[in-house]
Amino acid sequence: MKPVFTIRPATVHDITKVLSIAAEHDLQIKSPERVRNEGFLVSAYSREFYMKHLRRLTAACAGDEVAAFTLTFMFDELPPEVKDGPRVQSVIGNRPYMMIKQVGTSLQWQRSGAGRALYRHHLSTIDIPVFAPIVTATKNVNVTSIAFHESLNFHRVETFKDELGDEISGLWCWQPSGK
Ligand SMILES: CC(C)(COP(=O)(O)OP(=O)(O)OC[C@H]1O[C@@H](n2cnc3c(N)ncnc32)[C@H](O)[C@@H]1OP(=O)(O)O)[C@@H](O)C(=O)NCCC(=O)NCCS
Repeated sequence: MKPVFTIRPATVHDITKVLSIAAEHDLQIKSPERVRNEGFLVSAYSREFYMKHLRRLTAACAGDEVAAFTLTFMFDELPPEVKDGPRVQSVIGNRPYMMIKQVGTSLQWQRSGAGRALYRHHLSTIDIPVFAPIVTATKNVNVTSIAFHESLNFHRVETFKDELGDEISGLWCWQPSGK
């Protein structure tokens, strides 16, 4: 039986665990096999960054333990460090949206439903589109993230390429029903 996760706003006491989950998924430390099986994160944010944006962090807990987290921003509060804003805007124009900038599940809790519990929490309380940027560069496609997002009814809406025409990333979008 899969565990039940409690979803709650993160607190200052969770930041160390958030940093350790993010570090577990740092692309730089992963073998190609781990990249393929576990997914990865490319934005290495600092403790100061997470502290500054604490109210944008949400935790999924198994008992007292933080098993997974999300970092989300509304369209009008994206900090300069988050570079995907203009890309999303090129798709949606000036309409409101939410961006899930990071989602990470601790290695020991992967595939236990923690990520899904976090997303269900966010998606059940929002009535605007939700975007998730995913790295799809040929060398490092985040197949785990794509499978995860598509299982939650996110669909690819855009592909971004570099100046040589090589794919860098894609944008996945979830739409509230009826919109
Ligand atoms: C992507 C990630 C957040 C998914 O979190 P998770 O808690 O392991 O996912 P869940 O257990 O909630 O999975 C929900 C569904 O997503 C899909 N899914 C998740 N991981 C998958 C995988 N490795 N392969 C195929 N499908 C997968 C499945 O449909 C799964 O449902 P099921 O287990 O009932 O079949 C997690 O793998 C992770 O932290 N990866 C590293 C960081 C990362 O890649 N973040 C995304 C950056 S864009």
